[in-house]
Amino acid sequence: MNMSRRPVNAARRLVEGGSIPFASALHSKSRSSPYLSVLLILVGLLVIAYIYSGSGGSANDREALSKAEGGVSCTLEVQKALPLLKKAYGDSMHKVLHIGPDTCSVVSKLLKEEDTEAWGVEPYDLDDADANCKSLVRKGIVRVADIKFSLPYRSKSFNLVIVSDALDYLSPRYLNKTLPELARVSADGLVIFAGYPGQHRAKLAELSKFGRPAKLRSSSWWIRYFVQTSLEENETAAKKFEQASIKRSYKPDCQVFHLNAYH
Ligand SMILES: *[C@@H]1O[C@H](CO)[C@@H](O)[C@H](O)[C@H]1NC(C)=O
Ligand SMILES: *[C@@H]1O[C@H](CO)[C@@H](O)[C@H](O)[C@H]1NC(C)=O
Repeated sequence: MNMSRRPVNAARRLVEGGSIPFASALHSKSRSSPYLSVLLILVGLLVIAYIYSGSGGSANDREALSKAEGGVSCTLEVQKALPLLKKAYGDSMHKVLHIGPDTCSVVSKLLKEEDTEAWGVEPYDLDDADANCKSLVRKGIVRVADIKFSLPYRSKSFNLVIVSDALDYLSPRYLNKTLPELARVSADGLVIFAGYPGQHRAKLAELSKFGRPAKLRSSSWWIRYFVQTSLEENETAAKKFEQASIKRSYKPDCQVFHLNAYH
């Protein structure tokens, strides 16, 4: 997967940059060696054919993304689900860490709750942070950190760790590092909001922001993955969350998984 993406991306970048290097090479060399010109034209045509055949998938992704103005954001879903999470976790909602894009909005909302301390990790960047968000960063409440690496927190620092729109962008190799990290910093549990396969993502910017399109996995994929990595479902929490959802006629737009912390 990675190996096939890299050359395509490099080639596309050249084309998007407006320069097809073969053309200029052709001009300077054409007088000295006609054979070289022919060869370069052939190579050029092959490269162009390769770009067009290889970028089909990405073109579709972009099309999907551009339609996605009203698409799904699991971070927004976290905000909608906060009252239900309170029902499911009660006292375990005292110290909460949220990880995901637009974490400032989730953290701000959590901080308005009584008896709730909240922190956030923004996995990518904060280019368009508002004043409130900048202030959260200044206070160290929100941090920008690459979740492919260790998180800057001690074990069991938080009751609950909630993650949204972030794991979808990680390959299994990185998930293998990141998921245990999330479980490590949580004392009472881990709640994962992940997209459904085929779902449109909310932001056009998402593709460039994350460097690769989200890989939306089925619930059976995730469950198999959790079993493999020895993460167990917290059935009590899952049940309470579901009951509260039914009571309020709430149907999440994202898959929600309730996992135990490590013991
Ligand atoms: C991830 O970890 C699981 C369980 O330890 C292992 O079976 C699997 O091969 C790993 N996957 C990758 C891509 O490293
Ligand atoms: C499961 O969630 C409940 C809250 O619903 C919590 O009290 C309990 O400690 C969790 N269980 C484990 C094993 O983490």
